[in-house]
Amino acid sequence: MSNTESATRKILVTSALPYANGSIHLGHLLEYIQTDIWVRFQKSRGNECHYVCADDAHGTAIMLRAEMEGITSEELIERVSKEHQSDFARFGVAFDNYHSTHSEENRLHSERIYTALRDAGHIATRDIEQMYDPVKGLFLADRFIKGTCPKCKTDDQYGDNCEACGATYTPAELIDPVSAISGATPEVRSSTHYFFKLPDFEHFLKHWTRAGHVQSQISNKLQEWFESGLNEWDISRDAPYFGFEIPDAPGKYFYVWLDAPIGYLASFQNLCDREGIDFDSFWKKDSKAEVYHFIGKDIVYFHALFWPAMLEGAGLRTPTGVNCHGFVTVNGAKMSKSRGTFIKAETYAEYLNPEYLRYYFAAKLTSGVDDLDLNLEDFASRVNSDLVGKVVNIASRCAGFVKKLGDGRLSAHCAEPELVARFIAAGDEIAKDYEAREFGRAMRKIMELADEANTYIAEKEPWVLAKQDGREQEVLDICSVGINLFRQLMVYLAPVVPKMAGDAKAFLQLDSLDWHSRHEVLLGHGIAKFKPLMTRVERDKIDAMIEASKEDLAEEQKMKEAAKGPLAEEPIAEEISFDDFTKVDLRIARIAKAEYVEGADKLLKLTLDLGGETRTVFSGIRSAYAPEALEGHLTVMVANLAPRKMRFGVSEGMVLASGDKSGGIYLLEPHSGAEPGQRVT
Ligand code: 2FM
Ligand code: ZN
Repeated sequence: MSNTESATRKILVTSALPYANGSIHLGHLLEYIQTDIWVRFQKSRGNECHYVCADDAHGTAIMLRAEMEGITSEELIERVSKEHQSDFARFGVAFDNYHSTHSEENRLHSERIYTALRDAGHIATRDIEQMYDPVKGLFLADRFIKGTCPKCKTDDQYGDNCEACGATYTPAELIDPVSAISGATPEVRSSTHYFFKLPDFEHFLKHWTRAGHVQSQISNKLQEWFESGLNEWDISRDAPYFGFEIPDAPGKYFYVWLDAPIGYLASFQNLCDREGIDFDSFWKKDSKAEVYHFIGKDIVYFHALFWPAMLEGAGLRTPTGVNCHGFVTVNGAKMSKSRGTFIKAETYAEYLNPEYLRYYFAAKLTSGVDDLDLNLEDFASRVNSDLVGKVVNIASRCAGFVKKLGDGRLSAHCAEPELVARFIAAGDEIAKDYEAREFGRAMRKIMELADEANTYIAEKEPWVLAKQDGREQEVLDICSVGINLFRQLMVYLAPVVPKMAGDAKAFLQLDSLDWHSRHEVLLGHGIAKFKPLMTRVERDKIDAMIEASKEDLAEEQKMKEAAKGPLAEEPIAEEISFDDFTKVDLRIARIAKAEYVEGADKLLKLTLDLGGETRTVFSGIRSAYAPEALEGHLTVMVANLAPRKMRFGVSEGMVLASGDKSGGIYLLEPHSGAEPGQRVT
């Protein structure tokens, strides 16, 4: 260990907990990749570092989403958790634990923290008036209310701000407000809410936010917030709500943002219980362990004000650092579904190597909060020129000669001890950059070294010497230096491209590419047969990914329509002519077969007999009918509807059903005696 490398540190690291109702996309990945690189670096340095995360599983949005899909909230969060974990694994994001905020550990820690705050006098209650949806029977958050902007009169605007003119207002000011959930006119109702008295912590927070726990840009922003004054924070929601009931407050639930950061503790608790780590040694007030939260700049208020205040009030330690990053833009603009630049993790990974993205993000990341642009042209050329053209090239140029001239064994002595020593020494400065989250700077230094290594090989021209008699040892010496330099580069790149590093480790036949391992120069060491460690980015794969992202959007829209059921909304029908009506070919159909559709929570697949002809129709009636109850029954179908391609197959028509607002669905059935295939007029 060199003297710049300090003794083992105890570090706990988190990334923000993704909501359990949506897919991971490139915007999310910036944070998980940034955090994962930092964690892998810490582990490479020999520190005790634990990286935990969880799904953020509570709240109204998740409850409504589950309802829309016709499943329970528990079923939804279970499914999404699996999807999230599989996406993270594909991108090499290696959590030590992935948990859920809907867990016993989280219930206990939430209750413990809340009770401590309440007992210390930091919780207040008072009645507040809020919009209430009388049809759904729930209080409406501002984003679930729509109406006409009171200022510019644009309709269909959300309850708190107008997208057309930018005005902000309260939902009560909206003209003709409606519930975005049921369409009903909301009523104003009063209920008791619980508040966390944030102003009790003003003095503490003013000090904490200036004491180096957040970046200076963030600290400055926070001072502005102090100037406008801290408000008490509403931490309760009324039933029905998917979350934890507040102790001694029946029918009142913790607001999702109260138990979300406590989910960091819950996930870590779960890890500690599994692996015998001492939880308190990380979280007790005077703990010497370090705790870092990586977050996006949109959730600073929660992490740099509410969260440290809650911890302080509950007698726990506060974070060492809240590390904030900016947003991802693609080709210079906000990610856009219609342009195909709103790219899901899963879609990306179908077309491109996740390590390209890890490298590109690393190459552009700083410790600041500026947005990061994924310019797809620059992405391809940078990955191709740096990773493939510079780094892999060193190994591929040298490996063949080592195999041929050294029988796969490197030279027993080092021909360029100073050059190799310089590469080893460079690790100290690169480590400082990683530590400071200046990954872009680290990548530049690593690529400068790669340039040097390539220049060394190019100047020595081993391929020329190899053609001359008696110079075999010299060629082997040069290429052995090349392989040693390549090894140093892979130590430095391993936190960024762990899969490539794993393959390089196998090629180099090393047990470790950890930071300290680099001090031992490889002499007389056997290496394996070289296999390409990374291939070039193909431009047409990028185009295909963009096209697929556009299709993802179309698919999503179709799913939403299918999920609504046949008559979820009651459009006011326009008048049509008799001729128009006769164009609709309505037929009696016998339901020959009815089946569940895997992955579609609202649909049944019906095989319909039209008196000789058979049709397959997907219908959103699953919530009302068990398949076996339908088989043999007659119904009415639209037989000349253009076939519609759905995710599960082609739907060749539509069965007729009525529906009501409470979700009831009633399939039309003719009187007995009607025959399959008969026209309905
Ligand atoms: O903004 C979000 O996506 C939240 N789900 C982040 C929660 S982070 C933490 F507090 F749990
Ligand atoms: Zn407006």
